[in-house]
Amino acid sequence: MIITICSTKGGVGKTTLTANLAGLLASLGSRVLMLDADVQPALSSYYQLTHEARAGLRSLLIEADLTNTISTTDAGCDLVYSDDPEGKLQDWVLHTPDGRTRLKYLLNQLKPHYDFILIDTQGAVGPLQDAAVIAADLLLSPIPPETMSAREFARGTLGMLERLQPITYYTTLQIAPLHGLLYRVDRTRDAANVGREVREALGGEGTTITIMDAMIPAAVAWREAATQRVPVHTLTKYPMAKLALMAVAAELGLVPGLDAKEAV
Ligand SMILES: Nc1ncnc2c1ncn2[C@@H]1O[C@H](COP(=O)(O)OP(=O)(O)OP(=O)(O)O)[C@@H](O)[C@H]1O
Ligand SMILES: [Mg+2]
Repeated sequence: MIITICSTKGGVGKTTLTANLAGLLASLGSRVLMLDADVQPALSSYYQLTHEARAGLRSLLIEADLTNTISTTDAGCDLVYSDDPEGKLQDWVLHTPDGRTRLKYLLNQLKPHYDFILIDTQGAVGPLQDAAVIAADLLLSPIPPETMSAREFARGTLGMLERLQPITYYTTLQIAPLHGLLYRVDRTRDAANVGREVREALGGEGTTITIMDAMIPAAVAWREAATQRVPVHTLTKYPMAKLALMAVAAELGLVPGLDAKEAV
């Protein structure tokens, strides 16, 4: 299954969520590949590499190289790192006839080797983000739990998906279902209210997106885990972070046998 973590807004938690969900799934025994599709390669250095492949996403896409582009990390998941500091891949995707669909085609070839492929994207609109969305079986977007942010999300991220819809009219491609995850929810706020507010702010567009019941609270654990370069679920000092992430995985049906209600 290919999961693309996307949002046209920057700084909402995409990379943190990608790295930690990958780390959790790997620790539960799944074969996981992370793919860094952001020019600012934060995911690429999130964990320590135990094997550094010769190349990264550029070679994977342009040369269809699926063997020399897979690095491994000490969190138990593999990584295709970002090797495009000047952002040239965006232009390449834009100007290549099959640019937006090649990623899906290539990753489909990797599917037999992985249970999950998680793609982290740049917080903006762009052809490479389009490619990552088209490749996905499931789209996951962290949403800041405020009305204004939810409206911005509707304009930006839902707008991006709407723009891609025509591709489904004349090909067999489908745009994957979008799950909105309320992210960095303040401890002082009532969870039910936050969910209701955001659903209301999304208005009629709420039909194209499922706002998840699980939420990720704002907590120091996430930053501390990033500093230590370890998955947040390994920090036994912060059991709530692990529980929240387990609830997300369970609600998305990523962990067989794990019921969403049991996880919380
Ligand atoms: N649950 C959380 N609670 C508090 N802080 C968090 C949480 N998750 C992430 N952060 C912090 O929020 C900041 C932004 O997170 P992150 O880099 O994952 O966002 P992003 O969407 O990938 O940003 P960009 O668009 O720049 O790639 C980071 O400093 C991170 O440590
Ligand atoms: Mg990021």
